[in-house]
Amino acid sequence: MGKDGVLGLILFLIVLYGAWFFELGFSVTVTYDNKALIIDGKKRILQSGSVHYPRATPEVWPDIIGKAKEGGLDVIETYVFWNYHEPVKGQYYFEGRFDLVRFVKTVQEAGLFVHLRIGPYACAEWNYGGFPLWLHFIPGIQFRTTNGPYQAEMKLFLAKIVNLMKEENLFASQGGPIILAQVENEYGNVEWAYGVGGELYVKWAAETALNLNTTVPWVMCSQSDAPDPIINTCNGFYCDDFTPNSPSKPKMWTEDYTGWFLSFGYPVPYRPVEDLAFAVARFFEKGGTFHNYYMYFGGTNFGRTAGGPLVATSYDYDAPIDEYGSIRQPKWGHLQDLHMAIKQCEEYLVNADATHQSLGLYLEADVYYRTSDDCAAFLANYGSRLDANVTFNGRSYFLPAWSVSILPDCKNVVFNTAKVVTQKSVGDATFASSASVSELSLSTSPWSWYIEKVGVWSNDSFTATSLLEQINTTKDTSDFLWYTTSIEADEKKDAFLLIQSLGHAALVFLNKKVIAFGYGYHDDASFNISEKISIAQGSNTLDIISMMIGVQNYGPWFDIMGAGIYSVILADLKNAKEDYSSKEWTYQVGTEGENLGLDKTDLANSSLWTQGSALPVNQSLIWYKSTFLAPEGKGPLSLNLASMGKGQAWINGQSIGRYWSTYLSPSTGCTTNCDYRGSYDAQKCQKKCGQPAQILIESYLMNNAMQVCMGKQKCSVPVSTGILGNPCPGVMKSLAIEALCSV
Ligand SMILES: *[C@@H]1O[C@H](CO)[C@@H](O)[C@H](O)[C@H]1NC(C)=O
Ligand SMILES: *[C@@H]1O[C@H](CO)[C@@H](O)[C@H](O)[C@H]1NC(C)=O
Ligand SMILES: *[C@@H]1O[C@H](CO)[C@@H](O)[C@H](O)[C@H]1NC(C)=O
Ligand SMILES: *[C@@H]1O[C@H](CO)[C@@H](O)[C@H](O)[C@H]1NC(C)=O
Ligand SMILES: *[C@@H]1O[C@H](CO)[C@@H](O)[C@H](O)[C@H]1NC(C)=O
Ligand SMILES: *[C@@H]1O[C@H](CO)[C@@H](O)[C@H](O)[C@H]1NC(C)=O
Ligand SMILES: *[C@@H]1O[C@H](CO)[C@@H](O)[C@H](O)[C@H]1NC(C)=O
Repeated sequence: MGKDGVLGLILFLIVLYGAWFFELGFSVTVTYDNKALIIDGKKRILQSGSVHYPRATPEVWPDIIGKAKEGGLDVIETYVFWNYHEPVKGQYYFEGRFDLVRFVKTVQEAGLFVHLRIGPYACAEWNYGGFPLWLHFIPGIQFRTTNGPYQAEMKLFLAKIVNLMKEENLFASQGGPIILAQVENEYGNVEWAYGVGGELYVKWAAETALNLNTTVPWVMCSQSDAPDPIINTCNGFYCDDFTPNSPSKPKMWTEDYTGWFLSFGYPVPYRPVEDLAFAVARFFEKGGTFHNYYMYFGGTNFGRTAGGPLVATSYDYDAPIDEYGSIRQPKWGHLQDLHMAIKQCEEYLVNADATHQSLGLYLEADVYYRTSDDCAAFLANYGSRLDANVTFNGRSYFLPAWSVSILPDCKNVVFNTAKVVTQKSVGDATFASSASVSELSLSTSPWSWYIEKVGVWSNDSFTATSLLEQINTTKDTSDFLWYTTSIEADEKKDAFLLIQSLGHAALVFLNKKVIAFGYGYHDDASFNISEKISIAQGSNTLDIISMMIGVQNYGPWFDIMGAGIYSVILADLKNAKEDYSSKEWTYQVGTEGENLGLDKTDLANSSLWTQGSALPVNQSLIWYKSTFLAPEGKGPLSLNLASMGKGQAWINGQSIGRYWSTYLSPSTGCTTNCDYRGSYDAQKCQKKCGQPAQILIESYLMNNAMQVCMGKQKCSVPVSTGILGNPCPGVMKSLAIEALCSV
């Protein structure tokens, strides 16, 4: 009892002290030893969570970070997104959702620390892994290896970010919240592909980072050869077995997946909280000291920020805070309880290594002593089938299969990972959790439309006598590239058209009429189209619009993976083949509507838009526009696009992302009650089989206008297959909406 009192008092003083130095910006040193990060002379057990600033809006950052703090986090971890910070070489952008300084300061104001993962490679299911496309066009460049042009750019960007943080006094030594920085990202997973150049690159990246003198420790995740003093950290679903590469480094976990990311055409992954809590408890039981949820809040891939191929717009990740910023129960609450239990053990965990005791088959205890009669213990049943009763220190404890009990005083169980207690109300009313979701049908103005030109639409088209690779050709200025050629025939005939594409989707027109649609998958975006066609006598026009859905973000040499059409063959019915791949092709980057700016609000009243009773239905490549009054009330709003095909949506001139409601996931592979016991992987627990990956798109602009989140609403505007039509699965339709906010 007396000891509990003392412990409570110590924690109280530290909390006060922490708040004090944050407000006044006192200099704090951050170092480490084999047990923990040492912040201002104190060894810390830290809970961290990933929140990526551009996946939400600045208006909602404080609310999300507040909920993370309330959930028991000490640290917010984010990547830095080079491609949006330097869209053109030497021209920097740090505004709006990309205001990194404001984000770091928002975390600081909440009294939390920051782990800044500068990279500059992010992966993150983010377009091109966070690399700017212009980097690809620097002569002689090779990414992520020993290569002069690449290293020069990487060094410049690392320095740019570190200096920006220094100028704003954001490192801990300057009184700021940043206690940790990361260079590169998961390079150990691909290093084999780069040979000696890769090994030298790791050393160079480490040295370059250290020379920036951030005064905080650097980490490299999934990098077993990270040179001293850089800490190599673990990423994975479990990290209890992980050991750093030197006995002088603490055991840290930078990515513990709270779920998994979503791709178009796939079921929705989720991770039961009992398993997530088990993984976390096992990590601390086995000497872990810093742990980060990837993601704690996932958010939304607005605009064309989603990585590829085919990563969906939602980045919800089954995280403790959902895509709309609402607390997800019981996940959030159960983890909050877990964090409180671990926090009670902090003084013990940082003091000494665990004493291990076997308690039977798959049963064990790890005990942390401060003195010979003062300890904290973890009791684990890591068998996935059988519950058990164990005897520890002369007492009996019930341990469900695949669970850990936490005993901060070596006697009383304050938490068991498998026992999810009733959802608690979260105190403050502004943290209202179990959000009421209501679906509203909004009345809109009549729809107007614009029909895209099929094929070449401007004089800046160009020709080549080969099939060009898409990313090299568009430089990712658009998802779309038109490939146009002509087919001459002496007589009317039938033939087979065989098209091969590296990805990601393509819509084919013969003589300006849609004849086929093809598309790939996230795991393999390449596809073939084989279609019987009728060719007219004389000249026929073949137009193919090839579509990107996010540029590749992962894998060895991912930066040179191509996209687009690479083979077109015409075979007559006797199978005599004519290869069109090296005929003359005309190219047009982007669509006419994009070029005109139909997505912008300044063309809202333009006469380009047609209005009338003959709304075109069941057609491809059409822009639709309407206006509606946003519903009253406060809260996040999402658009229900269940009835649409494939396309992109804008509200008030801002792209809220791509949708592809007609791309259904396979009908099998889902489980309604996924058994949390046993090892988890990204395919273990899935829902929404046979359904679209995503039908709701978060409409952050309306949300902005409404400020604080309370509850959430879905709003559907009256667009439907019935109204706009859906001729073949997955065809592109664009939707531009002007919202008039009623607050
Ligand atoms: C690194 O930064 C610290 C704190 O700003 C400063 O005191 C120190 O002189 C710097 N060291 C070098 C080598 O630049
Ligand atoms: C554990 O002990 C309780 C109380 O004695 C008993 O009811 C239960 O069946 C035991 N469970 C197992 C798995 O042995
Ligand atoms: C292309 O069209 C634009 C706009 O109509 C015009 O200003 C420009 O001169 C044309 N360029 C060429 C090469 O014809
Ligand atoms: C496309 O067709 C080629 C040639 O028949 C074949 O090798 C390839 O595997 C096919 N690709 C897909 C994605 O089906
Ligand atoms: C893109 O162009 C570069 C040269 O600019 C070339 O080295 C590369 O192979 C091309 N990529 C693809 C996928 O064709
Ligand atoms: C379009 O017309 C509406 C209604 O008259 C008006 O409120 C709005 O400001 C106009 N938008 C533009 C960009 O001119
Ligand atoms: C669009 O086409 C589908 C399939 O051919 C058809 O079922 C539907 O009635 C059509 N819709 C309209 C509005 O014509």
